[in-house]
Formats: sequence, C-alpha cells, structure tokens
Amino acid sequence: MLNFEEEMTPAANLAGVRMATMEADAVLNNDSKEHDYTIASVSTGRIKVEDKRIINSNADVNQLVPFKYKWAWEKYLAACANHWMPQEVNMSADIALWKNPNGLTDDERRLVMRNLGFFSTADSLAANNISLGTYRHISNPECRQYLLRQAFEEAIHTHSYQYIVESLGMDEGEIFNMYHEVPSIRDKDEFLLPFIDVLTNPAFKTGTPENDQKLLRSLIVFACIMEGLFFYVGFVQILALGRQNKMTGAAEQYQYILRDESMHLNFGVDVINQIKLENPHLWTPAFREEIRGLIQKGVELEYRYAEDTMPRGVLGLNAAMFKEYLRFIANRRCQQIGVDVLYQGATNPFPWMAEMIDLKKEKNFFETRVTEYQTGGALSWD
Ligand SMILES: [Fe+2]
Ligand SMILES: [Fe+2]
Repeated sequence: MLNFEEEMTPAANLAGVRMATMEADAVLNNDSKEHDYTIASVSTGRIKVEDKRIINSNADVNQLVPFKYKWAWEKYLAACANHWMPQEVNMSADIALWKNPNGLTDDERRLVMRNLGFFSTADSLAANNISLGTYRHISNPECRQYLLRQAFEEAIHTHSYQYIVESLGMDEGEIFNMYHEVPSIRDKDEFLLPFIDVLTNPAFKTGTPENDQKLLRSLIVFACIMEGLFFYVGFVQILALGRQNKMTGAAEQYQYILRDESMHLNFGVDVINQIKLENPHLWTPAFREEIRGLIQKGVELEYRYAEDTMPRGVLGLNAAMFKEYLRFIANRRCQQIGVDVLYQGATNPFPWMAEMIDLKKEKNFFETRVTEYQTGGALSWD
C-alpha cells in the first residue's frame, strides 16, 4: 500500500499542472528509445486492425480507420449528439433566489459556494490532464478522437461554472481560489496532482512495465476517483437543490455535466480494461491492492469534503448519508475495473441519482436539445 503522505505534492505546487513548455529542454535532450506517439507514426505502411493497441502501438496514429475499438467511436458519436452550451440555460430564477436575502439559508449558500469552489478549477485540471498528459500516451486514434471531444467537454464544464458564478454575481476571486484556500477542496486536488504530473511530464514515456503501470495507475485515479468519486458529493448536492425547486438553472447544467461525466467514466473504464487485456503482466496482485488503497483514500477525502460542505446537514442531506453513498460508489468502481470491493453490503441512499445517470432516460430528457444540434449540423452552402 502507498504511503500517501510521501506521495503528496506540496501545497506550493498546487499552482498548476506542469506545463509542457517549462520542460521543453527535457524533451530536446531526451534520446530515449521508448515510445513517443505525439504526432509521427512508427510505421509508414498501411495499418492493420490487429496492429492497433491502446498503448505502445506501432500503428499509424494519424489513420483513424479501420476501427478496432468501436466502443470508443460510438462514445465519440454519442458525446457529439449530446452537445450543449451553458448560456442556453436560463439563470433568472437562480439569480432571483440568490439575490433574495431570504431565498436560501446560510448553510445552503455555503454548500453552493464550496461546491462551485471545487468544480470551477477541477474541470480545468481535468482538461489539462487530458490534453497535456493522457492524450500523448494513448496510441490509438479512435480513443484519441474521444479524448479530443472529452477535453472540449471539460472546457464547457469550466465555462458552465464560470457562467453560474458570473450570473449570481459571486466573488470570482473567492470561488476560483478555493482550491488553494479551503482545505477540504485543496486536499482532493493535492491527492490528484502527483498522478497528473506523471503524465504531463514531457520526459515520461510508456514502454516499460514500470511506466505502463504508472500510466494505468493515473488513468484509474483520473476516471474512477476524480471523475467517478470526487464529483459525486457535488453532483448530489446541486441536483438535490434542483429537486426542491431551488437553483434550477444550475441544477439543469449539473445534470448535463453529470451525463457527460458518466460517459467520461465509462470511456475511462473501457480504456483501463482494454489495457489490462492487452497487458496482463501489469495487473499484478500488488498493483490491484495498491489501487484499492487509492480508492479507499479517495473515499476518505470525499467524505471530509462532504462534512465540510454540510457541517449541520442541509436539504435533508447529511454527511453520514454521503459516507454510505461513497462506499456504494467506490464498490461500483472496484467492480468496474475488476478489483475486490472495499465495503461489503454498502447500499445507495440516493436511488434517484441512479435515475439521473441512466443514459437512456437522459437521452429522452435532452431530446429537443439534441435534435436542435443534429439538424443545426446540416449546413446549407447556398
Ligand atoms: Fe468535466
Ligand atoms: Fe470529465
């Protein structure tokens, strides 16, 4: 099991994901023979499906077809069909409620602000992780196609939080600095940063079992703990407000974001499981145990965030309910990637959340909007 204290990045480093330009020298001086799929393909011939692999592939990354991983292409198409933009959502009811001194309780306001305090920077972190890290190390073009769409969706999510903060006239400096200044938020980001830093380091290359495990570990942390666990207290909180007819514009946007994130998680799980299938030597008992420890640590951090955002219980929700919910979700993540569950018998105290995540139902919910985009895509050149 990892010693988490030693793995932590100091708070001073929280200022950002390591940027490629800062370490350009490391690339220029790197004469490693390990894989680098940034642009050029290793082979110059016509590609064969059987040569395609998620990592360490020799097939040309510039040739999208023939497809090998149809699930990746299908997710790309589904994501595009679900396109939405924040400014399409009417915020006037939220603004009236927020500006009314009696509109929300102090506890509800604290919950909303700390919620935005986490999310307003989390999706930038996600976008940077994809574009500066993950993308370079995934050597399959249909998966990269989805990652490009995912990166844009993370930008839309950041836009959405900015739009809510601006609409409500909140102190932007306060909200966007909470990831430095509020310990329960900072702790979650500090947990994530070492795993992002591994992939964004320009000198990092896959191709050895040790480095391939580093990539796999970071993919699991990002999909199953960040997108699959650290977002869920926040989603439940705002959607619970919406169910009580409060902050309905924000809740509508969170519902779109939840739908996007459900797909990011499912894509991440597919990638993880495919890498396992193609590289079974990486999936050792020690590695699996380490992953369980990381998920357990994620549950503890997210529970502390729940306690901090709801110190007294609010909206009929309290931190104890979230402990059970997080255990239930953590078990699900364990099952999805094939490690032993952590919390026997955990149940879902928020069955209505399952309905929100149900993609089929959400598709109905979004039908009008989706149609609008799909017809809007048929341009006339007259
Ligand atoms: Fe996102
Ligand atoms: Fe995401």
